[in-house]
Amino acid sequence: MSHQQPNRDTGRISVPTIRAMKSGDKIVILTAYTAPMAALLDDHCDVLMVGDSLGMVVYGFDSTLPVTLDMMIAHGAAVVRASHRACVVVDMPFGSYQASPELAFANAARVLKETGAACIKMEGGAELADTIRFLTQRGIPVMAHIGLMPQHSNTLGGFKTQGRDDAARAAILADAKAVVDAGAFAVVIEGVIATLATEITRAIAIPTIGIGASPACDGQVLVVDDMLGLFERSPKFVKKYADLRGVITTAATTYAAEVRGGQFPSDAQCYGVVTTDAARKVK
Ligand code: KIV
Repeated sequence: MSHQQPNRDTGRISVPTIRAMKSGDKIVILTAYTAPMAALLDDHCDVLMVGDSLGMVVYGFDSTLPVTLDMMIAHGAAVVRASHRACVVVDMPFGSYQASPELAFANAARVLKETGAACIKMEGGAELADTIRFLTQRGIPVMAHIGLMPQHSNTLGGFKTQGRDDAARAAILADAKAVVDAGAFAVVIEGVIATLATEITRAIAIPTIGIGASPACDGQVLVVDDMLGLFERSPKFVKKYADLRGVITTAATTYAAEVRGGQFPSDAQCYGVVTTDAARKVK
């Protein structure tokens, strides 16, 4: 159970509460894309993140680039409907915010209006500072996202760990400071050398949320399907807290065998009929 007190008016953990956790408990975040998963995770997380990782996790794309604003809004609204306590953040998909602060505002406003989420997340550092400032000054709380930015996979040449040399470290530290100055309330640091994430966490006044970053970060986020063990292969930074792949495979194998063998449905699953062995064999 999350220790945070929900806001008295909304019943949810608020953006200022998350911001204040810089000096308190670690911030617990998991991604959620669907109503049933949001309902299961709500009591355990401070933030539910409707990440654009849903493009790869739910839709089977090989990157997050094809994800649309309408997809994010549909999944964001489902997660808000099914949760009542966690702060919900919705990712802005590729192409919905990079062109100008005005475009970002119009699309982020749609996300908040149509989902009921409290805040949005955007990938980018210093180059996005004007946009973050424009949104935060107009009532849209922004969680920033620096380091490995999956929407930049074409320019980064894939999903590679960032911050490996001095110049890259300095640039990522500058990105962190720029998003803080622009008004972001928290920043995801993804896929960077651990010592750099630790240094950033010490250097800035807003919470850092690590994913493949450092235990020193003020919070951690994982893609829920990764940590539940739904994928055969996952990145090094994922810890599998369950083996749902195994559970599902066993359940599907048993179901298939029982349907083929005539054991399912049994009398317990039938309405008003008592089946006989003879009935089971009729095809
Ligand atoms: O898209 C996403 O789910 C994310 C998190 C993994 C940080 O950006």
